Amino acid sequence: MTTEPTRVLFVCLGNICRSPLAEGIFLHLASQRGALDRFHVDSAGTGGWHAGNPADPRSIAVAKQHGVHLPSRARQVRGSEADQWDIVLAMDAQNRADLIELGFDSNVVKLMRGFEPAADDTDVPDPYYGGDDGFENVYRMLLAACDGLLDQLVQNTDD
Ligand code: 4NP
Repeated sequence: MTTEPTRVLFVCLGNICRSPLAEGIFLHLASQRGALDRFHVDSAGTGGWHAGNPADPRSIAVAKQHGVHLPSRARQVRGSEADQWDIVLAMDAQNRADLIELGFDSNVVKLMRGFEPAADDTDVPDPYYGGDDGFENVYRMLLAACDGLLDQLVQNTDD
């Protein structure tokens, strides 16, 4: 039996730091699980300042240290694509509120850290203006959250 891929969108503000990292980690873990063909994955930003740009060099560097490739080119999310996604992972509460304001269904837009076991906060902090250690910290959060997310999504598609 063939099933349609689950459509997963990761969203942050600029689409250069957090959501490209989440996208790359998710693809990496899905590939390790042999489940890549079950998903259609993208990332986007609520802001459009960096449209067309690759991920921030610091996100690319931390990903590379862990053997993860980031395929992302930044783009701004649009309200018109709201129906195209099965699940949308917002990096923080402001991203989530902005997506709902754009017309995304509040049941579809989840907080990324809701999938991280024992998360100590609800938001993935924006590392853009901080030091390199902020990116390693964000990497660890996103690794745990993507693993938890995949546990749920793979289980659902096995039902
Ligand atoms: P991101 O980080 O939302 O994790 O991609 C940011 C990147 C750029 C800006 C803000 C946040 N900016 O204002 O340009």
